[in-house]
Amino acid sequence: MALQPPHGSNSFQVPFNKPTTVGTELAYAESCLHAEVLSGDGPYCLKCESSLRTLLGAAATCLTPSCTASLEMSALMLGISPGDEVIMPSFTFVSTANAFSLFGAKIVFIDIRPDTMNMDESLVEAAITPRTKAIVPVHYGGVACEMDTVMAIACHHGIAVVEDAAHAIGSTYRSRPLGGIGDVGVFSFHETKNITSGGEGGLTAVNRDSLVERADIVRHKGTNRTAFFQGDVDRYTWVGRGSSYLMSDVNAAFLWAQLSELDRINRRRSELHERYRQALAPLVASEKLQIQDIPEGCRHNGHLFYIKVRDEAERSSVIAFLRKAGVETAFHYVPLHSSKAGRKLGRLAGEDKFTSVESARLLRLPLFFGMTDQQQDHVCAALETYFRNANSTG
Ligand SMILES: Cc1ncc(COP(=O)(O)O)c(C=O)c1O
Repeated sequence: MALQPPHGSNSFQVPFNKPTTVGTELAYAESCLHAEVLSGDGPYCLKCESSLRTLLGAAATCLTPSCTASLEMSALMLGISPGDEVIMPSFTFVSTANAFSLFGAKIVFIDIRPDTMNMDESLVEAAITPRTKAIVPVHYGGVACEMDTVMAIACHHGIAVVEDAAHAIGSTYRSRPLGGIGDVGVFSFHETKNITSGGEGGLTAVNRDSLVERADIVRHKGTNRTAFFQGDVDRYTWVGRGSSYLMSDVNAAFLWAQLSELDRINRRRSELHERYRQALAPLVASEKLQIQDIPEGCRHNGHLFYIKVRDEAERSSVIAFLRKAGVETAFHYVPLHSSKAGRKLGRLAGEDKFTSVESARLLRLPLFFGMTDQQQDHVCAALETYFRNANSTG
C-alpha cells in the first residue's frame, strides 16, 4: 500500500512543528545496544519512571507505547465494561473516546468552555447517570481543566477520574502537577509533544494506591510477571485481562535525554507562547482575533498556541494566506459527538453551544522548541499583514 507521508513540513519557511531534539538522544539510545538491554522495564525505563513518579507525585508510573495505549490501559484498570458510561469533552482526540469504547462504554460528550476549550466543569454533574464509571478531563494545550470542581463531583458520586494530560507534561493546576490529580493520568510522548521518546510513546501515572497492582498486571499482558521477578510467587502466569503496554528501553533512553531537559524545553516553549501573546495583542485589542485564556492558578507548558478568527471561512483564508507566506498552520480536533463513530458510540449530554462553533474557528500557529525568534516574528508579521489587507478590502 502506498502511503502519503503525514508531514510535509520541510517545504515551509516556518513549519508547524519540528520534533524536539536536545542532542544526546542517539548516544543514550546507542548505550542500550552496548548494555544489551532493549526491551521494556530496562534501566532507562526505570530511570524515566522514577523521575516522572517524583515529578507527578504518583503512586506508580508506567511508560507505554503511546497515550492511546495509556488510555486503553486506564479503561482496563478501571474494569470498564459494556453498559458503562464515560464523560468527556467532544473537543478531543479520537483516542480519548475510542479507548473506553473498545471495552463497550457509551461515551457521554459534554460541551467545552470557549475561554480554554476545556470541558465545562459546570456540565459534568448533569451528565452523570447511575452507569457513569469515569470522567475524563482533557487539559487542552497543557492548560488545566477546573480540577477542584471535577474532583469534588467525582468524589461525591464515587466515580473515577482519568486525566488526559497528553499535552500537559510539566503543567500545573494550583501548584499540583497535571496528570497527578485524578485516579489516573495519561501523557503522550509523540513527536508533536513537548518531549518525545523517539516518535511515539506515552505514560500512565497511577495516582491511587489501590490501582497499582492492577496496573502492573494490565501492562504485563495480564500476568503476574512483576510478582514473579520479585520472588513473591513461584510461577509467572495469566491472572487477569491485560495487554502489551511496555515501552522499549531504546525509546526510554531517547526520552531520558529529553526528560533531563524538560524545564529548559518548557521554558523556551512558554517564552515563545508569551512572545505570540504580546505580538498579537494589538490584533486581539482590535477584535480581529482571540487567543487562549490562561485561568488563574494554571501554569502551562507552552504546548500550543492558537488563535480564533471570525468563522471557518475566515480560517480557510488565513490558512491559505499564511501558506503563501511560507507558514504552516493546523486546525485541531473535529468534534467527536458529530463524527460517524461518535454518533453511534456516544451521545451529547446537553447542548453544543460552543464545541462546533469554537473548534471551527480555531487555528494553531507554529510553536516548537527549535523555533527561532525570527521565524516567530515572520508568522506574526504575516498575520498582521493579513488583517490589515482584510480591513482595507472591507
Ligand atoms: C488529547 C489527546 N489525547 C490522546 C492523544 C493520543 O496520543 P498518542 O498519539 O500518544 O497516542 C492525543 C494525541 O495527540 C491527544 O491530543
